Amino acid sequence: MALHNTPCAGSCPIGRARFLRSTALTALAGIAGTGLLADPAFAQSVGSIAPTQSRGKVLTYSLPAKEGAQIDAGNGVIVARVKSTVYALSITCPHRAVTTLEWIPETKEFHCPKHDAHFQSDGELIDGRPDRAMDRYAVRRAGQSIMVDTAAVLQQDTAHDAWSRAVVTVG
Ligand code: FES
Repeated sequence: MALHNTPCAGSCPIGRARFLRSTALTALAGIAGTGLLADPAFAQSVGSIAPTQSRGKVLTYSLPAKEGAQIDAGNGVIVARVKSTVYALSITCPHRAVTTLEWIPETKEFHCPKHDAHFQSDGELIDGRPDRAMDRYAVRRAGQSIMVDTAAVLQQDTAHDAWSRAVVTVG
């Protein structure tokens, strides 16, 4: 099956240049259109998102209604929902912050194309060179929104308690 010929090539690069050419939603629609996604729910598991409000470095997003990854490539923020927990993750790899992570809809994982690292959809490290999970931003809930402080980048190894608390619970 010619997975490599689809717009996403099996993964959805979420770098700025690629995002400007084709949003993750468009790419995902391309995959879905080929019938490669056995589970139609995958079609709703990844998408693009933009803040509903910006105040300095604090960005507000609507809380995701379903599980999956919502990507704001312009601001480098991924809003991920896993079951009833919502995270705001940094889009850059914790191994080398210059590398932009990809979302792989088939496995619901983030992938670093530089050194082939993999992360769970909640940002936990699966394998690869990084010595920590994906970085999180400090978050708080405001009604049906999540407020993300992009000035407060939390690393699992150096700010473990704050990193662990950087979640919002829904429903
Ligand atoms: S830059 Fe991502 S694993 Fe090395």
